[in-house]
Amino acid sequence: MSIKDVFNLSEGTEVTVRGWIYRKRELRDKIFLVVRDGSGIVQAVINKSDQDLSSIASKLNVESSLVLTGVIKREPRAPGGAEIHVKSINWYYAGYAFPINEDAAKADSEYLFDVRHLWIRSRKMWAVLRVRHTVFGAIHEFFRSRGYYEVQGPMFVSAAVEGGSTLFPVKYFDREDVYLTQSSQFYLEVLIYALERVYTIAPSFRAEPSRTRRHLTEFWHAEAEEAWLQFDGLLNLLEDLITYIVNKVLEERQDELKLLNRDAKVLENVKPPFQRVSYDEAINILQSKGVGIKWGDDIGADEERVLTLQFDKPILLHHFPEQIKAFYHRNDPSRPETTLSVDVLAPEGYGEIVGGGERIYDYEELISKIKRFGLKPEDYDWYLDLRRYGSVPHAGFGLGIDRLIMWICGLEHIRDAVPFPRDIRRIKP
Ligand code: 4AD
Ligand code: MG
Repeated sequence: MSIKDVFNLSEGTEVTVRGWIYRKRELRDKIFLVVRDGSGIVQAVINKSDQDLSSIASKLNVESSLVLTGVIKREPRAPGGAEIHVKSINWYYAGYAFPINEDAAKADSEYLFDVRHLWIRSRKMWAVLRVRHTVFGAIHEFFRSRGYYEVQGPMFVSAAVEGGSTLFPVKYFDREDVYLTQSSQFYLEVLIYALERVYTIAPSFRAEPSRTRRHLTEFWHAEAEEAWLQFDGLLNLLEDLITYIVNKVLEERQDELKLLNRDAKVLENVKPPFQRVSYDEAINILQSKGVGIKWGDDIGADEERVLTLQFDKPILLHHFPEQIKAFYHRNDPSRPETTLSVDVLAPEGYGEIVGGGERIYDYEELISKIKRFGLKPEDYDWYLDLRRYGSVPHAGFGLGIDRLIMWICGLEHIRDAVPFPRDIRRIKP
């Protein structure tokens, strides 16, 4: 039986659970084993007067695997309000002394990443992974319930979407022009001509040369693209998507949020409408807070932090200047030095979790912008074909799922939101 179900049964019921020892301690005449499985933890109690049982228990270490049978007893001091009084134990693997302990973790901030294959068993990772499961499921539910088709783009590509500086070259037989994809956007733009509304959940890769609290070299990207979608519709879609995901987590993951000490009030606040803040307004706010920034400058992590501390919900930051956004963004016809672009910034200092906007759909306009940006039209031959044959207005976005989870869980670092993080220095385990 799953450990979580033990707590629904009445006192005196005999149960068998299987799992791993999470904690072990002795107190006068008793040995306490906190046992965990995939569903939760329960305290098991052994009387030292039972010599057979206590000799087994004394051999077992933290993380030994076992099957244990006993009787449920209410105990307000035990986690979950009940414990199991043990009658028999079958142990599978007593194993070695588990290497993870607080001293090792304190001595070296990289230690828990070096042993991530074992640290994954911690309560913290357990909680994050369960929130992650809910977030991925919620994204699928949201898009499917609204008639978007799930599609897949390739991971090996031959051109940049998001600028050449973060492209990862791959050794691909004898070719030198193959990279890992930075975004599936261009393939989604292809697919709207067959399906109109599409989304994908896939990894994206960026050769990010520095370690920051919000950059990975491999991250999970939820991207959507929609024919005929215009700017206001895109902003509403983003608001609805993020609200849907956060509500799902609140519905399903209260215990996990508590375990992570996440203040659920912040998340309960996430309801439409989100405040729309133009780039111009953002520059004014930042200047009024003493940030040295002028119109045309990029809004980086530090500026986003200052900005988002002013709001208690995600904000939609829109109309970035042309020069700080990728070439495919459509310029606003009524103010061509700006683009119909939007970033969603998570509150509490977290910052960007989504980038998106309307795309240029006019052939001549796209060619001239590619040239203006110093890029080569021949690198984008098939992308330009989309503007030659039946082009339509369209818009889309990419949501960084790991960043979203980092914010939902209130984590310090994006590496804590991912089971096996990848960054400039880490490729193991
Ligand atoms: O803003 P970005 O670069 O936009 C695109 O890639 C578009 N082509 C997406 C689209 O319109 N289909 O990336 C989108 C999001 C960012 O807002 C951020 O949340 C996440 O992807 N992201 C990263 N997450 C973790 N580590 C990195 N190195 C990331 N780079 C981007
Ligand atoms: Mg961006």
